[in-house]
Amino acid sequence: ERYFSSKADMKGKKVLVTAGPTHEKIDPVRFIGNYSSGKMGYALAEECASRGAEVTLVSGPVSLSLHNPAVKLVRVESAREMLAACEDVFPSSDVAVMCAAVADYAPRNVADHKIKREHSDVPVIELVKNPDIAATLGKMKRSGQLLVGFALETDNEADNACEKLQRKNLDMIVLNSMRDKGAGFGTDTNKVTIFKADGAREEFGLKPKREVAADIVDAIMSI
Ligand code: CTP
Ligand code: CA
Repeated sequence: ERYFSSKADMKGKKVLVTAGPTHEKIDPVRFIGNYSSGKMGYALAEECASRGAEVTLVSGPVSLSLHNPAVKLVRVESAREMLAACEDVFPSSDVAVMCAAVADYAPRNVADHKIKREHSDVPVIELVKNPDIAATLGKMKRSGQLLVGFALETDNEADNACEKLQRKNLDMIVLNSMRDKGAGFGTDTNKVTIFKADGAREEFGLKPKREVAADIVDAIMSI
């Protein structure tokens, strides 16, 4: 259903959002991917648009649809394609929110033909590091631009999130809770803690991703 916000505090702002997983090709019919559903990123894009922003959503492969015609959708598959789309859009953006679960590695070589099971040894897939999109935008960032990242950690959650905030030159990072049932990949709810570059920290309860998106946008607009 279409959702309208009562706020119009992002009017005139240009926002870039990344969402979903990336798929890294092995051969024409196979890829390396992850369980990201894209729901959090799509909810964020819709929230920003409903608050008046002009939104570009750079999305990896997901099966979600958009409700707000004010969101411009750019579909990509791999981390490299996502980086190229972001490098295009970021210079004219006021805010960028890196919600995508970008694959950290990609196969070094993509087979031209489907890898066949018979007549071959068990294949070894050599991987290479993907570019860090958030860190790349962090280096490109000019004064007045805000860059927001996400983190999902299994241990030392707060320390790891804050280390990422600094290393990638972010203004804010949203830590997804792994501890709570109903939070994270595929679910419709999420539980987050927000850390800002000035040291401020705010913890939220388990709630629908749409409401989490509103909390995140409130936090961005308070910087
Ligand atoms: N990110 C990105 N490009 C990558 C990897 C991550 O833009 N190649 C962004 C994510 O969208 C997220 C933030 O960086 O906003 C943190 O992602 P995460 O996977 O937690 O960070 P990594 O630096 O990949 O560290 P880790 O080893 O914990 O996976
Ligand atoms: Ca990673």
